[in-house]
Amino acid sequence: MRYLTVALAKGRLAQKAMELFEQIGITCDEMKDKSSRKLIFVNEDLGVRFFLAKANDVPTYVEYGAADIGIVGKDTILEEGRKLYEVVDLGLGKCRMCVCGPESAREKLKHHELIRVATKYPNIAKDYFYNKKHQTVEIIKLNGSIELAPIVGLSEVIVDIVETGSTLRENGLTVLEEVCGLSARMVVNQVSMKRENERITKLIQDLKQILREDGA
Ligand code: PRP
Repeated sequence: MRYLTVALAKGRLAQKAMELFEQIGITCDEMKDKSSRKLIFVNEDLGVRFFLAKANDVPTYVEYGAADIGIVGKDTILEEGRKLYEVVDLGLGKCRMCVCGPESAREKLKHHELIRVATKYPNIAKDYFYNKKHQTVEIIKLNGSIELAPIVGLSEVIVDIVETGSTLRENGLTVLEEVCGLSARMVVNQVSMKRENERITKLIQDLKQILREDGA
């Protein structure tokens, strides 16, 4: 039997996703050894293997077929824009992609002034402002601590993830507009979906079933 390969976005998400897989009988004891430096974890009996990757790279592994399946946030899927099938909303890590800034930026946004937008997600920001709002802005790519940008005067607003809202609150910023809702998704390589249709379809159905039961 060919291995079914699953790429997981490193971190909290991977752990939660593994708990879901366990609920449908797909376990991987090798992965539980936190001291291990191994990159790939195998369950020989089930013919499944898992590997941990940087979130941004998960859609790349899946598009090229190096992984049949990926578990990754919708933010990364949107930003990377890879060719793949998004098949299950796992409901994990629910948060929102928002335009944020000081209250004083609200008017500038409304009047379509040429403002600067700092973000880790330039493609999402571009799509939102150019295609949805038909508003010309200057997008500045940053790599983290995005909330700093409007505070120190790098940009008027940011496009960033808001979960509890406490980072915004503690820095005198607020949500000005909502771009979209986010959560972790299961994605599938387009060729694998055909070649391994039976196994992958079963996996999708089992996951959906468990999510329904959990939600009930
Ligand atoms: C994320 C996001 C916000 C924060 C939102 O940053 O970019 O800064 O979490 O969470 P909250 O609404 O619950 O405060 P992360 O911690 O991933 O680090 P980063 O700044 O390096 O992106």
